[in-house]
Amino acid sequence: MEVRKIGVIGAGQMGSGIAQVAAQTGYDVVLMDVEEISLKKGLEAIKRSLDRFLRKEKITQEEADAALGRIKTTLNPADFADCDLLIEAIVENEAVKAKLFESLDKVAKPEAIFASNTSSIPITKLASYTSRPERFIGMHFMNPVPLMKLVEVIRGYKTSDEVTRVVMETAEKMGKVPVEVNDYPGFVSNRVLIPMLNEAIQAVMEGVATPEAVDTVMKLGMNHPMGPLTLADFIGLDTVLAIMEVLHEGFGESKYRPSPLLKKMVQAGLLGRKSGQGFYKYDEKGNKIE
Ligand code: CAA
Ligand code: NAD
Repeated sequence: MEVRKIGVIGAGQMGSGIAQVAAQTGYDVVLMDVEEISLKKGLEAIKRSLDRFLRKEKITQEEADAALGRIKTTLNPADFADCDLLIEAIVENEAVKAKLFESLDKVAKPEAIFASNTSSIPITKLASYTSRPERFIGMHFMNPVPLMKLVEVIRGYKTSDEVTRVVMETAEKMGKVPVEVNDYPGFVSNRVLIPMLNEAIQAVMEGVATPEAVDTVMKLGMNHPMGPLTLADFIGLDTVLAIMEVLHEGFGESKYRPSPLLKKMVQAGLLGRKSGQGFYKYDEKGNKIE
């Protein structure tokens, strides 16, 4: 089977990035969200990113226009009926994803492949909400999608060899480097990354140093491109908390306990860059306010 048309569900920071990259690499894309405002914001983010590539002369105006022309937005899941691959990138919440997959299962064609961009929820569990677990897989893009090379490809318990092959090939055609891993809490990327971010938050809570100082230590001392608190804000503190909770429950070990400060900030609506405030403040374009 060959993938020609891709459906992307969720027009947030990840879904818009996935739709952009798919369109830039020649796929027809249907991008869906539950709210018109989210679709509008998603398209604006895509335009801003294409503009950056244009300014750096990494793409031409024709390529940018062609990519935008390949993206159709919708609020109606029925528009996925002729998609070959559906990539889900909605909020990191198992119950919400379960409901979505149950409804997608009814509208998608039987041979369509379902992929989830979940950061941590078991792929085998998500697949169980559909009638096609052998055609279900994890396709974990990294943020920001237009720049980051990796796609972690996660096989669920029943994922077929054929589906894995098609998805690895599609990720390559999207200009990415796919790496196959098994379904285990946090997979590889977030099992290693997120506890480090949680520890940095804990250090701030314990008064070891300010967020700026923690970030500077990790940037200048370890050559990380972003300090851990800037990165946590960039990912979204709600997503960081959801991943820590999956690790805590999945491994049952206290070392994965989410920092109380992280929990409190999410309860207060401080979600990081996307809500305008986390450890730092941001303007509506997502730029840090110094
Ligand atoms: N689209 C197009 N271009 C973009 C862009 C976007 N969305 N974002 C940034 N750029 C471009 C900028 O225009 C700039 O271009 P030039 O170098 O040609 O001038 C370049 O990228 C660098 O951008 P900045 O100068 O603004 O910032 P930076 O040097 O800090 O780089 C970064 C930005 C590449 C994001 C870098 O900070 C970085 O690699 N950060 C770490 C990202 C990371 O760890 N991602 C993984 C998160 S975890 C995850 O995704 C998994 C999960 O489940 C949570
Ligand atoms: P986000 O909050 O930026 O966007 C989520 C979008 O999903 C919103 O636009 C929301 O309106 C939409 N949505 C919610 N419920 C929906 C539904 N039932 N149907 C259609 N759309 C719906 O979140 P994000 O950061 O883009 O994360 C999306 C997914 O990608 C999560 O599973 C997250 O764990 C994963 N992920 C995030 C990152 C990251 O760095 N933020 C990296 C890799 C993977």
